[in-house]
Amino acid sequence: MDSLNHLSQDDLDRFDEEGYLFFEGLFDDDLNQRLRDDVDRMMEDRERGAKKMIMSYNELGLLTSEPCVIDRVADLMEGEKFTHHHIHARWQGKGERGVAWHHDYVQTPQTNRSHLMVHVFMYLDGLNGEVGDLLVMPGTHKKVMNGDAFMQFEFDDLPGSRTYDDLAPGSIIIVHSAVQHCRRPKPGGQTFRRYFIDTSYCQNGALWGGYNNIEEINALALEQGYDRGGKYAFLYDTTQFFERRPNIEKLDKINEGSLVLQL
Ligand SMILES: [Fe+2]
Repeated sequence: MDSLNHLSQDDLDRFDEEGYLFFEGLFDDDLNQRLRDDVDRMMEDRERGAKKMIMSYNELGLLTSEPCVIDRVADLMEGEKFTHHHIHARWQGKGERGVAWHHDYVQTPQTNRSHLMVHVFMYLDGLNGEVGDLLVMPGTHKKVMNGDAFMQFEFDDLPGSRTYDDLAPGSIIIVHSAVQHCRRPKPGGQTFRRYFIDTSYCQNGALWGGYNNIEEINALALEQGYDRGGKYAFLYDTTQFFERRPNIEKLDKINEGSLVLQL
């Protein structure tokens, strides 16, 4: 088997234990530049008040099925199919406010980790200690907790946490979405702009809370050919999602005492 885009047993063991894997300098200069150009187009459109779906930017849309990412995610999913949850992209620069400790595992209420959801953080220009550092708390995907459980610690170092501020351009990190992490604001960015993209994938077998317009997003992805001739059509499967808001309201009404008694 072509091992280029695949994970070793060591990688799989480390992911189980720590909840994340780095791939430094994974994207080549050409892909990096095409993605930077698309983020520029998108941010300039937004600044002009023209808001288009991120999937309508061809390079960013294609990134959601980029084989060097998807093949690695597939190994983590252990043979189960999975679906694309979202792509976000933006510039981070001077005055970036950061994001306090949190996790992004989409589950209501937070009760188990039976199915895998991952986020892929992409640093087109790497990390260099300016603008924002990535902090990660290894192993927190094994504890079931609310996304904001550590939020009071803001951007602090915590016992066992790790700080990443030095990464080559084109680096990605694949993170179990339930791993606690934060972006610590740092000075700098006067002459440096960080291009930050994240994508996310959810294992089939459980329904996931998705964006309200997920059907529209997936239709556009297929129309644009981001499924690469059908090979990755499974990524754009709207049937893997449920509508969050009405179900959260339903939960609020019955969320008293031990939920196990309401089964
Ligand atoms: Fe996050």
